[in-house]
Amino acid sequence: MNLLIDNIGELVTNVEGTGEGGPLGIRRKAALLVEDGEVAWIGPARYAPAAARRIDADGRAVLPGFVDSHAHLVFAGDRAAEFAARMAGQPYTGGGIRTTVAATRAASDDRLRETVGRLRVEALRQGTTTIEIKSGYGLNVADEARSLRIATEYTAETTFLGAHVVPTEYADRPDDYVGLVCGPMLRAALPYAKWIDVFCERGAFDADHARAILTVGQAAGLGVRVHANQLGPGPGVRLAVELGAASADHCTHLSDADVEALAGSETVATLLPGAEFSTRSPYPDARRLLDAGVTVALATDCNPGSSYTSSLPFCVALAVREMGMTPAEAVWAATAGGARALRRADAGVLRPGVPADLSILDAPSYLHLAYRPGVPLIIQVLHNGVPQWQP
Ligand code: NIG
Ligand code: FE
Repeated sequence: MNLLIDNIGELVTNVEGTGEGGPLGIRRKAALLVEDGEVAWIGPARYAPAAARRIDADGRAVLPGFVDSHAHLVFAGDRAAEFAARMAGQPYTGGGIRTTVAATRAASDDRLRETVGRLRVEALRQGTTTIEIKSGYGLNVADEARSLRIATEYTAETTFLGAHVVPTEYADRPDDYVGLVCGPMLRAALPYAKWIDVFCERGAFDADHARAILTVGQAAGLGVRVHANQLGPGPGVRLAVELGAASADHCTHLSDADVEALAGSETVATLLPGAEFSTRSPYPDARRLLDAGVTVALATDCNPGSSYTSSLPFCVALAVREMGMTPAEAVWAATAGGARALRRADAGVLRPGVPADLSILDAPSYLHLAYRPGVPLIIQVLHNGVPQWQP
C-alpha cells in the first residue's frame, strides 16, 4: 500500500543541488510518496499523485531519519552514582566501564534484550531510524559474542568492541588480553559483527595494541572505527586515518596534524557531545574541523557511563550552542554525516529508491531542533515506510 506525505512546508533531502540550503537540499511546499517501504517520488505538493493513504504535514518540516553511528546499548545496570560524583567534581577516567562489565556478564539474555529494545524505541521516538550498536561490556569470548548476537536482533550496524578496556582478570597481562581479542574473541564475534572498534586512549589500548587488533579485524573483513582522542591527545585519530577507518570517534583533543590527517582522508570525525556534557568536559571544536574540510558526524555515544542519552536532537542542540556548528551543519551531521560514518549511501538522505526513513517535526523548519532544545518536536517517524504511531 502506498502512502503520501502531503503539504510538507520544508523538506530536507540532503541531496545537494536540490532546491536551497546547499548540502541540505531543501524543497518547500513538497510532497513525498512512499511505496513498498521506499521513497518512490518527491516533488511539488501541487503535483502530488493520489495514494491509498495520506498524511497531511500541514506545512511542517520533514527530514531524513537520524543516523546514530555510535551507541553502546548492550549493557546492564546504570551508573547514576558515578554521574552524581562527577557533577560533584570527580573526573571521568573510563574506569567505570568495568562496573558495567560485571553487571552485563551477570545479566540474562532477556535482560539485555529488554535494555537494547527500550533504548532502541527511545531513540526511534527521537527520530533515529538507523543505529550502530557496539559490544564492549562483555570482554570475554562468550559475553562479547552474546552481546553482538543480541545487537543483530536490532540493527545491521553491529560493532565488535572487545578492546574497550582490559578486563580486571587480565589487568597484569594486557598482551594476553590483546591475543584473546585478536584470536578466539574475534572468531566468536565475526558471525555477528560488521565493524571493529578499539578504545585507543591512555588507560585503555595504546597505538600498537590498537593497530594489531584493528588490522586483524580488517583482514577478517570488518570495517574499522576507532574511539580516538577522547580524554587527551594521542595516536588514535592518526591510526584511524592510517587504516582507512570509516570514522574516528570523539576527536575532542586534536593537534593540527590530526586535523590535517582527517582533512586529507575518507575518515569521518564523529563528535559525541553527550559525552562531554555528561563528563563535564570541554567540547570538541567542530568549527575547526569543518573549516579544515573534515566531514563531521554527530552521534549519541549512548552508554550508561559517559553519555546516557539516546537523543540526537539533544546532541544537535549541544553542537550548535557549544561546538560552533550552524543548525544546518548539525542537522546534516546527525543525518547524512552519520550515514557517511557508516558508509551507507541509502541512509540519511531522501531520494527515490532509498528506505523511507524520516521524521515529521511539529515545527515549520529543521532550525527548531536547535532553537527549541529539549522540546519533543518529532511527532511522527516513518521507518522503512511504516508510520511508528497513529497519525
Ligand atoms: O565512548 N570511551 C569509551 N567508551 C565509552 C564510555 C563507556 C563507559 O564509560 O561505560 C565512550 O565514552
Ligand atoms: Fe563510545
